[in-house]
Amino acid sequence: MKYSYKGMNIEIYESYDELSNKAAQIIAAQVILKPKSVLGLATGSTPERMYKYLVEMHSNLKLDFENITTFNLDEYLGITENNVQSYAYYMNQHLFNHININRDNINIPKGIVNDINGFCHQYDEKIASLGKIDLQVLGIGTNGHIGFNEPDVFFEAGTHLVKLDEGTIVANSRFFSSIDEVPKEAISIGIRNIMQSKKVILLASGKNKEEAVWEMIFGQVTPNLPASILQVHNDVTILLDKESGSKVKIELDKL
Ligand code: GLP
Repeated sequence: MKYSYKGMNIEIYESYDELSNKAAQIIAAQVILKPKSVLGLATGSTPERMYKYLVEMHSNLKLDFENITTFNLDEYLGITENNVQSYAYYMNQHLFNHININRDNINIPKGIVNDINGFCHQYDEKIASLGKIDLQVLGIGTNGHIGFNEPDVFFEAGTHLVKLDEGTIVANSRFFSSIDEVPKEAISIGIRNIMQSKKVILLASGKNKEEAVWEMIFGQVTPNLPASILQVHNDVTILLDKESGSKVKIELDKL
């Protein structure tokens, strides 16, 4: 089902597989239409299958990433890119090792960095030097975070150091052997970076995302639920499966 609400496109699919396929198709269309696109990429379990479809499109249909530039949203602080828990490792494993991207065009915040503020500034400058992100892919945390922009009293503009919420640490501990191993801090691009992207797609799957998705679409625009800012982005598509979309579907069907 496809809906339009306050300018947001909301698509609810039968399954995680279908939403992943649709997300991959949107990215493929972007890459084909503009071979020098700048893509903003996300990690987490939600986009895994989308990346699998993109890898298949590369090997079966010659989807060409040679001139694509990527910026990842975030990275845990204090771990190297060879650490299996790092988002750099994740991106290599799920996408970059399997496509023809030029390694010089891959940008991921560094987990080990001396001058954090300097690094954040450089990351913002590099995005700005390439114009705008053409297509930003997002997931959503159960607390409504996007990237690692946690609920706050204001929207952080640019790339910044984040102290992770207790709930985020608990949610992400499933990827670590114990909760104590989950880093407590991260570097994340900011809300301005995300909002300046020309187009945004946000993927959410599973019952545990249902409330955050509802708040993002129907709640107040507030830094307390960072994803709610997308209500005022002018080109956003929200891809849901029926579990994450069940509560919003009830509301949307009434309109
Ligand atoms: C992580 C990431 C986010 C991601 C979110 C949801 O903390 N920093 O970019 O969107 O959590 O992750 P998942 O898809 O695994 O539920």
